[in-house]
Amino acid sequence: MVDKRDVFRAFRSAGAAANLYLRVKLRICPLIEIASRVPARGHVVDLGCGNGLFAALLLLGSDARRVTGFDLDPAKLRVAERLKRDNGWGRAEFREADIVRLTYPPADIYTLIDVLYLLSPSDQEAVLRKCARALPPGGTLVVKEMDTRPRWKYAWNCFQETVSVRVVGFTLGKKFFFRPREEFERLLGSLGFAVATVPLGRGQIHPHVLYVCRKG
Ligand SMILES: C[S@@+](CC[C@H](N)C(=O)[O-])C[C@H]1O[C@@H](n2cnc3c(N)ncnc32)[C@H](O)[C@@H]1O
Repeated sequence: MVDKRDVFRAFRSAGAAANLYLRVKLRICPLIEIASRVPARGHVVDLGCGNGLFAALLLLGSDARRVTGFDLDPAKLRVAERLKRDNGWGRAEFREADIVRLTYPPADIYTLIDVLYLLSPSDQEAVLRKCARALPPGGTLVVKEMDTRPRWKYAWNCFQETVSVRVVGFTLGKKFFFRPREEFERLLGSLGFAVATVPLGRGQIHPHVLYVCRKG
């Protein structure tokens, strides 16, 4: 697994806001463990890449990964570009795009880390269907979301997202749409994926859940 100190080093010139995000996110989300569950080689397309934090973990974790990140938010993409430049990451590319409309480039792996909840249920399905179509047989889709149970963690998460999305405006979006774990498993299965669900909420205040999906 990636050493946190290497991540902090990679972010040293990314600015105060990005460093605050990095520290908070690593404290409240097992992102390093999630990155370690992504296959170690191949082209990864990170949909909703934000400021490039997950891409950074993927690149630091293996020299055999190449990452293309897409996001709607130009301010976050500027941070990602700075990370790429300052760390000399020739294996990274970041582009502005709406992942609901984008035609996905071919890849071995697609990742969606805390992004789907910002899309309507029909857009969530459209995005997952596009991943299923674009992946080669044996390809991997990694989806990180929040579960709707236990209830108290779900309520806390909704409160925190309301502050982040609607009050502070830190994340682009207007509403959020969380699905119960069983619903995600059914949906991903119906798209032809073999799904391994990894609950990651133990010892955390958020009901993190990861779906590692292999295309049959
Ligand atoms: C909570 S942030 C997660 C960012 C990143 N995946 C991470 O874990 O650090 C959600 C991201 O999804 C992006 N996003 C939301 N809707 C999007 C869309 N339709 N197309 C592209 N990006 C989108 C937001 O701009 C934001 O950067």
